Amino acid sequence: MRKSRKENLPVLENITITGITAEGKCIAKRDDLVIFVDGVVAPGDVVDLRIIRNKKNFAEAIPIRFHQYSLVRTEPFCQHFGVCGGCKWQHIPYQTQLQYKHEQVTDQLQRIAKVALPVVQPVLPSAETRYYRNKLEFTFSPNRWLTHENIQSGEQFDRRTLGFHIPKRFDKILDIERCYLQPDPSNPIRLEIKNYARTHNLSFFDNVQNQGFLRTLIIRTASTGEIMVILQVYYDDRPVIEHLLAHLLTSFPEITSLQYVINPKGNDTFQDLEVHSFAGKPYITEQMEGLQFRVGPKSFYQTNSQQAYELYKIARTFAGLQGNEIVYDLYTGTGTIANFVAHQAKKVIGLEYVAMSIEDAKINSAINNIPNATFLAGDIKNLLTESFFNQYGKPDVVITDPPRAGMDQQVIEMLLQANPRKIVYVSCNPATQARDIALLDVNYAVHAVQPVDMFPHTHHVENIVLLVRK
Ligand SMILES: C[S@@+](CC[C@H](N)C(=O)[O-])C[C@H]1O[C@@H](n2cnc3c(N)ncnc32)[C@H](O)[C@@H]1O
Repeated sequence: MRKSRKENLPVLENITITGITAEGKCIAKRDDLVIFVDGVVAPGDVVDLRIIRNKKNFAEAIPIRFHQYSLVRTEPFCQHFGVCGGCKWQHIPYQTQLQYKHEQVTDQLQRIAKVALPVVQPVLPSAETRYYRNKLEFTFSPNRWLTHENIQSGEQFDRRTLGFHIPKRFDKILDIERCYLQPDPSNPIRLEIKNYARTHNLSFFDNVQNQGFLRTLIIRTASTGEIMVILQVYYDDRPVIEHLLAHLLTSFPEITSLQYVINPKGNDTFQDLEVHSFAGKPYITEQMEGLQFRVGPKSFYQTNSQQAYELYKIARTFAGLQGNEIVYDLYTGTGTIANFVAHQAKKVIGLEYVAMSIEDAKINSAINNIPNATFLAGDIKNLLTESFFNQYGKPDVVITDPPRAGMDQQVIEMLLQANPRKIVYVSCNPATQARDIALLDVNYAVHAVQPVDMFPHTHHVENIVLLVRK
């Protein structure tokens, strides 16, 4: 029998997995060759690896046989584990996940920033390690992904599905029976809609052919108990939409905001589209320390609300405000940090380039009677100029929370020019944070490092660094 192309690829036997990279991939070594391993492996596993890609300095591989399972392993709790891209570290105990995240932060600060460091504090664990997300987006598809077990079973499956994308496959959707990421009624709502759509023969959108009706379902839950549901469809069929949503509301009267979007575009983003309100309020309300935050269908809000509160408290402690400071909150999003620290500062200025988020930030200041927060929309590298400092005053303290790419070099240069006493740097990517800290080192020393776990069972880690003027 002829071997498949895959079977002809080289195999390395009895390889021990030695660690995990910052991107969450397992790593192994054979002589001088570094091997990145995809699939469900853990440090300590001894495996045979099939090399699937050979580069000059490294190789990529998948495990094909396990000789020994690592002692650190634990039993994953989700039936979709290993196929779904959501919680890839479930086979690693939570305490060990935290250690890996700590190593990740320490390693990147040491290797990339190369500056004097205080002790990196242990990662602050998330109080909830399941049902910690307040937002999930599910995708409809007529083309359900069948797992190896599904195919082996010989069973005939209804391929119309509502679930998550298979990692790296935009066209393949995994049917989700139960997800542990968001509190209920997230699961029953999703199942009810899928069931309704199947029994009423509604078509599921095919994103390769660009045809079909039902596209995505977004569910947002808030700590106040409010629930927002947004249904995205491909074309306008009002009677069908209204019938489906009315059914949903009868089944789940606890939904406080029910909305829909008609999206005839080639992609699922709806930032540029009108969101129609079917029932309830057009927003849900989050609460934090007596403050109310309105979250609209297009607004950003930290996805682990409870842990966001912990993150913000640390940022506020690091800022150590006395009440007489001008504070800049860079990359403010919907102004949550700015509003959170405002009553301890003379004034706060929040900057962000999404104009809609800035509108939300202003509303949130208004409903919380915060008179000393100003929000401006624009690219921060263009906003921060000498004349900006003249108009609004130079900052005494800067809190910055950039996207994964970190801060633009021009922003760092302007920060050095503004010369605040403290910079509190919140980051979801310790590698770019380390790079930026190296650039700030001419004038700023690292005084504290506190990693925070916002996303249990994933490799992601948030890190807060306090930089103090030298
Ligand atoms: C990590 S989020 C910050 C979230 C916010 N601090 C919070 O806790 O809700 C980063 C934000 O930076 C904004 N952003 C990214 N690049 C930007 C730029 N060059 N200028 C202004 N804002 C930017 C994004 O739109 C996003 O809202």
